[in-house]
Amino acid sequence: MPAARSAPPRGATAAAARIDARRAAHRDAAYKDYVGDAPDGTDAEYDAWMRELAELEAAHPALASPDSPTQRVGGAPSDAFEAVTHRLPMLSLNNAFSDAEVEAFDRRVRDALGIEIVRYACEPKFDGLAISLVYEGGHLTVGATRGDGTTGENVTANLRTIGAIPLALPDGAPRRLEVRGEVVMLRRDFDRLNAAQAAKGEKTFANPRNAAAGSLRQLDPRVTASRRLTFLAYGIGEVDWGAHPPPGTHSTLMDWLVSLRFPVTRERALAAGLAGILDYYRRLGERRSSLPFEIDGVVYKVDDHAQQRALGFVSRAPRFAVAHKFPAEELPTEVLGIDVQVGRTGAITPVARLKPVFVGGVTVTNATLHNEDEVRRKDVRVGDTVIVRRAGDVIPEVVRVLPERRPAGTSLFTMPEACPECGSAVVRLEGEAIARCTGGLICPAQRKASLLHFAGRRAMDIEGLGEKLVDQLVDGGVVRTPADLYTLGVAKLAALERMADRSAANVVAAIEKSKSTTLQRFVFALGIRHVGEATARDLARHFGGLDALMGADGAALLEVRDVGPVLAESIARFFDEPHNREVIERLRAAGIRWTEHAPAPTAAGGPLAGLSLVLTGTLPTLTRDEAKAMIEAAGGKAAGSVSAKTDYVVAGADAGSKLAKAQELGIPVLDEDGLKNLIAGKEAR
Ligand code: IVH
Repeated sequence: MPAARSAPPRGATAAAARIDARRAAHRDAAYKDYVGDAPDGTDAEYDAWMRELAELEAAHPALASPDSPTQRVGGAPSDAFEAVTHRLPMLSLNNAFSDAEVEAFDRRVRDALGIEIVRYACEPKFDGLAISLVYEGGHLTVGATRGDGTTGENVTANLRTIGAIPLALPDGAPRRLEVRGEVVMLRRDFDRLNAAQAAKGEKTFANPRNAAAGSLRQLDPRVTASRRLTFLAYGIGEVDWGAHPPPGTHSTLMDWLVSLRFPVTRERALAAGLAGILDYYRRLGERRSSLPFEIDGVVYKVDDHAQQRALGFVSRAPRFAVAHKFPAEELPTEVLGIDVQVGRTGAITPVARLKPVFVGGVTVTNATLHNEDEVRRKDVRVGDTVIVRRAGDVIPEVVRVLPERRPAGTSLFTMPEACPECGSAVVRLEGEAIARCTGGLICPAQRKASLLHFAGRRAMDIEGLGEKLVDQLVDGGVVRTPADLYTLGVAKLAALERMADRSAANVVAAIEKSKSTTLQRFVFALGIRHVGEATARDLARHFGGLDALMGADGAALLEVRDVGPVLAESIARFFDEPHNREVIERLRAAGIRWTEHAPAPTAAGGPLAGLSLVLTGTLPTLTRDEAKAMIEAAGGKAAGSVSAKTDYVVAGADAGSKLAKAQELGIPVLDEDGLKNLIAGKEAR
C-alpha cells in the first residue's frame, strides 16, 4: 500500500473504522427491526450503538455524514406499501440514561427559558411503532408508519382495523388534523398471539413491539385485524386549526384529543421541575412490569407550547423533550458454562454461568435455565450469545439464543448422571420435568431439609431439633446425615453457641427417645420422594420389616396398595443408592428399633376389623398418631367425628365435645388401656 501523504492521526483512523462498523451494524439491525424480523441485537444495544456513534461523530466532525443513521432515524420503507411523505417530519427523541443526564436536560431548558421551575408533561415511553393518522373533513384518510421520519409507508387499510383508532371525528373537529402516537400490542394479546402461533407451528415473536410491527406491516389487512393491536396518541402533526383556538399546552392538547375520542394514556401526569419528573420516573418504574403494555422509559415534554417553540429543535429531535430510559430488562451476553444446582429437595436445576451483564438494574452472572426440557427447547449451549432477561424482582432467565452468533464446535447440553454435590444418581421420574438427586440422606445440598424432615413431628419426632439447631449443626460440620444425630452427646451440643446444658440434655433425650419408633414413621422419615405418611404406612404394613422393603424390586413394590410405577421407581432408586443404604445401616446400628408390623392385616382378619373408632383428648402414653396407627394396624378405622356409625370413642384427658356426643348417642367409651385390651382381644365386644 502506498504511504499516504498526510496520514490521519492514529486516533482518527480508529474512529473512522469504529464509525463505519457502527453505521453498518445499525443499518442491519434497524432494517431487521423495521421489517419485523427478529432483531440482531436488543434495543439497549441499539441505543448504545447510536450513542457511541453520535459521540464519535461529535468528537470527529470531519467524519460526520448526512447518511449516518444519527441523521436519519428509522428503516427503509417496504416496497410493498405505497410511500407517504410526512408534511411535517416525524422526529425522534434524545435519550437520557441517568438522573445526571436528566438534570443536564432540565438545566438546559431552564437556562434557555430563563425560568427556575419548568412545568413538564410526563408520559410513558411506549414500546411500539410510531404512526401518523391524517383526518380530512373528519375522516381518516391516510395512516402511515414513521419510516425514516420523512417518508413512511401507507398502512391505512391495516390501521383501519385497529379498534382504538377513530375512523371519523365528532363535529367541530379541524378540517385537517394529523394525530401521532404509538401502535402497541398489549402484553396479554402478545401472549395470546404467541401461544396461537406456537400451536400452529408458526414463528413466535420476540417481544410485543416486534409483534406489533409484524402485524401492522401485513399486506393482508385481515391478518392485522386478527392480531389485536391498540393505539395511544401522544402528539399531533400538521393541523389546520381554522376557527378553533389551538391548545396552549401539551396537557390540554391531550385532553382535547381525548374529547375527540383518541385513546390517551391514563399514566400521564404534570410535574414541576427536576424533582417532580424524577419522582414520576421512579413511581412509574415501580409499576412498569404490571402495566398492560411494555414501556422502555418515560418522556418529559415542556408543557407550555410557547416555551416549546422558544426551545425549538436540534438536528432531528426537539430541545423541549427527552426520553428517560429505564435500565434494559433484556440484554445479550455470553454463556461461559452451564452448571447444575441442587436444591434443598434434591431438584437439579441447570444454570447458565454468564459473562457479567448489567440488566434490569443489577449485574447478572447466572441465569436459571429451569430444567432439562427448557434447555433443549431453547437449545442453549456453552459459547452461545443469549438474551438475558431480568424484570422487576424476578430471577434472571435466558430468553433465547442468538443463533447467528453461535460459534463453531458447540455441543448439546446433557444432564449429569451423578449429583455434583454428592455423586448419587440423578433420576428424572416419568412425567416429571425436574431431575433429582437420589442421595437424600447424604447430599450436602439437601442436608438441612432432610434432617428437618427426619426430625419432624410426624417422622422421628425429635423435639427441640428445629431449624436453628439444624443450621448450627450442619454449618458447623457437626452433623452430615441423620445417623450423625445419634452420635451427639450433651457435650457436643452444649459446645454450640447459645445452647445451655439443660437444653442440650433435652435434645439428647429426645434423640434417644426417637430410637423407639414405628416402621411407618421411620420409612416416612427417610424422605423418599413421593412417600408421604400414607404410603409409608402401606409400605410398612405390606412388607412388615425394613429388610423386605429394601430388598423389594419394582414388581414387588407395585403390589403395594396405591403404589404406581412412578412411586415404585422412586422407592427402588432410593434404596438402590449405596450412600442411602449406608446411612440406614448406621441408623440401625445406632439402636433404632421399631415395632415390626405384621404383614398387612386383611380387613376381615384384624381384631378391630370393620370397627370405627374416634380418638379424643390426650392419652396417657400414646400420641394421637401412635393410637391411630395401632387402630389401623388392627384393621380398624380411626374416624374424625362421632356419629351413629361410631363403634367406640377412645377418650383421654381434656376430651371435649366428641366425648359428650358419644355419651349422648350411647356409644361405648374406652381409655388407652381399654383400647389396648380391645386390640389384644381381652375385652368382649
Ligand atoms: S413524542 C418529537 N411521546 O419514541 C417527539 N414519543 O424517539 C415525538 N414514543 O418515534 C415523539 N412514547 O415512537 C413521544 N409518549 C411518547 C412516546 C413517544 C413512545 C416513541 C415514538 C417516537 C420515539 C422517539
